[in-house]
Amino acid sequence: MERARGGGGLAAVMAAAAAVVVAAVLVQATPAGATTTYTVGAPDGLWDMETDYAEWVARRTFHPGDKITFTYSRELYDVVEVTMAGYDACSNANNISVFRSGNDVVTLTAVGTRYFLCSLTGRCDSGMKIRINVVAAASSGPGASPASAPSASASSPAMMPSAAGNVHILALILSLVLFLSARVP
Ligand SMILES: *[C@@H]1O[C@H](CO)[C@@H](O)[C@H](O)[C@H]1NC(C)=O
Repeated sequence: MERARGGGGLAAVMAAAAAVVVAAVLVQATPAGATTTYTVGAPDGLWDMETDYAEWVARRTFHPGDKITFTYSRELYDVVEVTMAGYDACSNANNISVFRSGNDVVTLTAVGTRYFLCSLTGRCDSGMKIRINVVAAASSGPGASPASAPSASASSPAMMPSAAGNVHILALILSLVLFLSARVP
């Protein structure tokens, strides 16, 4: 009788321990802090004159923390980040930044729209410009809500609050297991 009760308690503890393992795996699999790096134009093209950038962006969703890489020949192209007005007019006069390495990585730090074009003669007019809409990740923590996005400083990674949240969840589950094991006769 005593032995049977003890066995039941042990089973409960083992079930709880299994739950911890499952929860830990789920926490690791949660994409809250995961980011993606996209090579502009890939896989069918790159940063070049052939890619249909409107179509390329339409098939992807960009979230804060994701990166885009412009890969191109430095003799043929460059990358200039511009405002919406610059994008619409194919003008780089009031540019935000200029990239010329041929392998330029740009981090999409915050929710909003980013505009890039190639400033070499005729390139932008031929369609070599790209507009990236960065939207909040659907299933991330409270820190990523759209309301907080405009004031969010672009330099602080959005994954910090969710990582802290994961630690709290794990701590909660661990205390539950300890509580359950304390009740085993
Ligand atoms: C970028 O803007 C600066 C002025 O802020 C200008 O001097 C420079 O020529 C521009 N470069 C390109 C590639 O548009």
